[in-house]
Amino acid sequence: MGSLLFSPLTLRGLVLPNRAVVPPLCQYSATEGMADDWHMVQLGRFAVGGFGLVFSEVVSVLRDGRITHGDLGLWSDDHIAPLKRITGFIKGQGSVPAVQLGHAGRKGSMQRPWEGNGPLGAAQFAKGEGTWDIVSAVAAPIGEGFLTPAALDAAGMARVVEGFATGAKRAHAAGFEAVEVHCAHGYLLHQFLSPVSNTRNDAYGGDLAGRMRLPLEVIAAVRAAWPQDRPVFVRISAVDGVDDGWTMQDSLAFARAMKPLGVDVVDCSSGGIGGSATGSKRVPRGYGFQVPYAAEIRRDVGVATMAVGLIIGAQQAEAVLASGEADLVAVGREAMANPNWALMARGVLEPGSTEDVYAPWPPQHGWWLEKRAAVMDALGRPPA
Ligand SMILES: Cc1cc2nc3c(=O)[nH]c(=O)nc-3n(C[C@H](O)[C@H](O)[C@H](O)COP(=O)(O)O)c2cc1C
Repeated sequence: MGSLLFSPLTLRGLVLPNRAVVPPLCQYSATEGMADDWHMVQLGRFAVGGFGLVFSEVVSVLRDGRITHGDLGLWSDDHIAPLKRITGFIKGQGSVPAVQLGHAGRKGSMQRPWEGNGPLGAAQFAKGEGTWDIVSAVAAPIGEGFLTPAALDAAGMARVVEGFATGAKRAHAAGFEAVEVHCAHGYLLHQFLSPVSNTRNDAYGGDLAGRMRLPLEVIAAVRAAWPQDRPVFVRISAVDGVDDGWTMQDSLAFARAMKPLGVDVVDCSSGGIGGSATGSKRVPRGYGFQVPYAAEIRRDVGVATMAVGLIIGAQQAEAVLASGEADLVAVGREAMANPNWALMARGVLEPGSTEDVYAPWPPQHGWWLEKRAAVMDALGRPPA
């Protein structure tokens, strides 16, 4: 019998071959925003591995919207060609390429995670990686020792909205079939949403409607710039997990506000707002810990959702779909550990003859593995 995970999903005019998704996984490995062979291999192996939808890492729509010097970008037409090579490969494998568009705001001009995740310092300056001016909702740094951002004025916000819209057009030109607006993890649009980071007292701050205004303007602009027959996703941090932060009630209101703008899928993550003056009560980790957010938004708002976060097993993923908690399941770090996760999961959920199990694999691999499986069946369990 077929599984839900490996059944197609239609979003507008786009048919995903299955519901196993690779979420955005930043590699911090680009130079001046340009994708290279690393990104081709990183994303290409997930398409080879049977995932129906493969997201790019966050791609910065403006040069000063990068988190680190290694972020991908779409702030120039020059970025299109190397991304197009990657989307072409993904499509050639029968998978669908998606792009996440973002702006880091006050979480910009930082070290790569493995350099320390702090503000840029002597080691980065020595290799020519200097700081740049950053922006946010208000002029408050993410923490002590970090750069202080400039509070965005009307012209600055217009530049951000325009950046997302132009980024969407360039992403379409680069061959992406779905787009996601990054409103999560403490980056610029989340900085506007959360009361922790947005203490403005103009039309873009204050109450929930004010704090949602810029993110909703960006979403509307991306929707308008993106082909009508292709889906728009929005990634949210469903809760901040800090005192007096963004709550699930806020997420439900945000999802209700974005749905009529033409958002097709709400991608439910959490956390990341950071900040110094907040007592952090991190969202407790457990397998599938963010699935309840996707379930509540799907049920209460009537919009499709994507679940993500410590989803590891094939049956675990299938159960999320079978219980109606989400429409798509994203597998991040487990996919880095096993890029063939989707092909293997299919074998678990849809067992059959050796021939059946290897039929969905690319023939360059599947043809050989099928023959080997027959030999191993006869030999019994292999040595450890
Ligand atoms: C190396 C790495 C890079 C990530 N980069 C992004 C990113 O660019 N944008 C984003 O929204 N989330 C990013 N995330 C979060 C993942 O998309 C995902 O939500 C998270 O890893 C939880 O899912 P998992 O437990 O299946 O890994 C990143 C996570 C990792 C491990």
